[in-house]
Amino acid sequence: MNHLLSTASLSTEEIKAILNQARSFLEGEQWKPAEQQFVANLFFEPSTRTKSSFEVAEKKLGLDVIPFDADFSSVLKGETLYDTVRTLESIGVNAVVIRHKTDHYFDELVGRVGIPVINAGDGCGHHPTQSLLDLLTIQQEFGDFKGIKVAIIGDVSHSRVARSNADALTRLGAKVVFSGPQEWFDETFLASGSYEDVDTAIETSDVVMLLRIQHERHDGDDSGISENYHQQFGLTIEREKRMKPGSIIMHPAPVNRNVEIADELVECSRSRIFTQMKNGVFVRMAVIKRALEKNKGGMQSVNTHKK
Ligand code: CP
Repeated sequence: MNHLLSTASLSTEEIKAILNQARSFLEGEQWKPAEQQFVANLFFEPSTRTKSSFEVAEKKLGLDVIPFDADFSSVLKGETLYDTVRTLESIGVNAVVIRHKTDHYFDELVGRVGIPVINAGDGCGHHPTQSLLDLLTIQQEFGDFKGIKVAIIGDVSHSRVARSNADALTRLGAKVVFSGPQEWFDETFLASGSYEDVDTAIETSDVVMLLRIQHERHDGDDSGISENYHQQFGLTIEREKRMKPGSIIMHPAPVNRNVEIADELVECSRSRIFTQMKNGVFVRMAVIKRALEKNKGGMQSVNTHKK
C-alpha cells in the first residue's frame, strides 16, 4: 500500500523520483488513470492551499473528487476516522487525502484500510507534501541540495513543516539550522541541525524559511509570545538587506504579515512564497499518481485476504 505519511517513510531515491515527476507535470506531461478513479479530501483542520491544490491536482489528473465536509459528516455523530475511511473505501473511493489535528492520526488506518492515505498534515507531526513542494522550489533555484544552508525560523517545535523539511533536507545533503524563540526549539530537532541566533541564521543562509506562530497549538497560552516578535525574530526590512546575494525567502503560508515577515517582503524579488504554492499542484499530482499506480497491487491483496 503506497501511503504517504511522512518524508521519513520515503527513501531519498523516492523523494527524487517524486520531484522528477512533479517537474515533468510542471513542464506539461499528461497522465490519466486508465479507469475511473475517485478520491476524497478529508480536512478536519482549516486549509486554503493544501486542500485547494490537492483538488486542482486531482482534477488535472482526471479524477472524480468526492466532496467531503468534516463539519457535515457523520464524524459529528461519533463515527471514528477508521470507520469513515472504511466507508469511503466500501463505496468505491480509491484514495484519501487527510488533514487532522492529531499527531499520527494515521496509525489507526495503516494495515487496516485497503486504499492509500496521503497525509496533508497531522498535528505537530508531519506535512510531507509541503516538504516536497519546498524541495522542488529549492531544487529549481539551486539545482542540488548539497552545500545549501537552510534556516528554519519561528515556531519550530509546533511545526510539522519544520519537522518534515528538517528530515528531508538533511538526508538530501543540505545543512539545516533553526532559529526563533529558544523555548520553541526542542531537542528532537538536534538530530537535523543546531540552533543559531536569528541574525546569524539570516545573514549566512541560502534559504530563509519563516514559520507562522501556530497559536492553535499553544493550548490557549500565548503569554510567552513577545509583542516585539517581529523585531526580535522576524524577517524585517533591515534584516533582509543583510541576506546573502542569491539567497531566497520561503514560507509555507499562511503568512502573518508584519509578524514573522515584513509586509513588503512577502512578494519581494527574493520571495518564492507564491512559487511554492504553484509547485504544490505539481508535487501533489506526482504524489497522487504514485499512490494510485501502486495501489493496484494493494487493493488486490486486500480483496484476496477478505475472500
Ligand atoms: N501551507 C499550508 O499547509 O497551508 P494551508 O494550511 O492553507 O493548507
